[in-house]
Amino acid sequence: MHSFSYRDQSLFCEGVSLEKIADEVGTPAYVYSSETIRQNFRRLDEALKPLDHLICYAVKANSNLAILDLLRKEGAGFDIVSGGELFRVQKAGGDPGKCTFAGVGKTEQEIEYAIQAGVYSFNVESEPELERINDVAGRLGVKAPVAVRVNPNVDANTHKYISTGKSQNKFGVGLDRAAEVYAHAATLPNLILRGVQTHIGSQILDPAPFAEAAAKLVPLVEHLRDTYKIQFFSIGGGVGIVYDEALASGDPAWWEFVDHPKRITPEAYAAAIVPILQPLGLRILFEPGRFMVGNAGVLLSTVQYVKKTPAKTFTVVDAAMNDLIRPALYEGYHEIVPLKKNASEPEPMDVVGPVCESGDFFAQDRTVPTLAQGERIALMSSGAYGFVMSSNYNSRPLLPEVLVDGGKSAVIRQRQTLDDLIAGEVIP
Ligand code: LLP
Repeated sequence: MHSFSYRDQSLFCEGVSLEKIADEVGTPAYVYSSETIRQNFRRLDEALKPLDHLICYAVKANSNLAILDLLRKEGAGFDIVSGGELFRVQKAGGDPGKCTFAGVGKTEQEIEYAIQAGVYSFNVESEPELERINDVAGRLGVKAPVAVRVNPNVDANTHKYISTGKSQNKFGVGLDRAAEVYAHAATLPNLILRGVQTHIGSQILDPAPFAEAAAKLVPLVEHLRDTYKIQFFSIGGGVGIVYDEALASGDPAWWEFVDHPKRITPEAYAAAIVPILQPLGLRILFEPGRFMVGNAGVLLSTVQYVKKTPAKTFTVVDAAMNDLIRPALYEGYHEIVPLKKNASEPEPMDVVGPVCESGDFFAQDRTVPTLAQGERIALMSSGAYGFVMSSNYNSRPLLPEVLVDGGKSAVIRQRQTLDDLIAGEVIP
């Protein structure tokens, strides 16, 4: 779901006009809807009610402090992948005791920080990592809680860069070796075997692979529960969202396309996995990122030039691949809509950014409303893996982020200044 819709030909986020926000903060800029995030959290939480569960929001999807604060207030825990994300969660008032710490490359410093903060569990990706956590915990004179990430070798049928549950991926330990890895972990004196984790990939629109992965792990999970008294089973994140019809057919009310027949809904997801997970009698953890925030954000941009060549029309906008890299990196599709509807006929064009790379595009040969210089657009569904993946490439300052709640909007990150660009740099 999302809370973006047209009122009198003008695109609004909840009760606030996006044109007004663009006037105030300039473009490019990210805008997020609080209401969308809250509704997404509540709808998933409700669907999972039959389970003793905790939703650990995947911070990597959008780590702005205000977003973390909003989800903390809803009762979310957090799935983190770095010391930096743990720091953010703490700064937003989050409880490390509701945090799982994932990632294949945790450093000693990060492990020490997370142990001292008191994270709920390290989701461990390899045997050398188990040894390292055991060593650091021993040095600190404490026991560290761990879960091993188990790779179920399931095809999530998603883009190869965001598929993680196949044996050729770098993540987790294979299902065939998992029992042995736990047996070894049980001999390490400074570890508590707290749970087991899996995650098969991202932007998954079919409930079947989730059910397949859960079912494949059940015998192992039962064994771990009975042998080591583990508390939880985390089945990761990965629930996909609508990218291509976010506003396409007229002006749907924000809830209208949530139940699109081809789309995964929280209820369909729950229906597929609850019967498999409930009999385990364990606490079930979920790590959704994109589902929570993806449709809750847009990237606002202004047309700079319309360049017509014999081959194509290029609409050059002021946002670029450094601001939103998903199209360049994953062929990600983001719907492009004008902030103010115009009467012109849609026509095929490339919508491109100013960065000096051919990969700097938001749409290629796509039929979108004809846009003139100075007109503003929204790149829809940019709330997840948008700002967080941005960079200063081409010495472009990082964008501001704005959070709308009802009729109010607040700047939750200032636009970087030119001085910010060179902060910390030294000419020797
Ligand atoms: N848990 C683990 C262990 C993960 O690796 C991820 C995402 C998540 C949870 C959250 O997945 P989600 O619910 O958001 O699908 N930048 C890419 C997506 C990368 C996902 C990485 N891992 C994109 O823009 O499509």
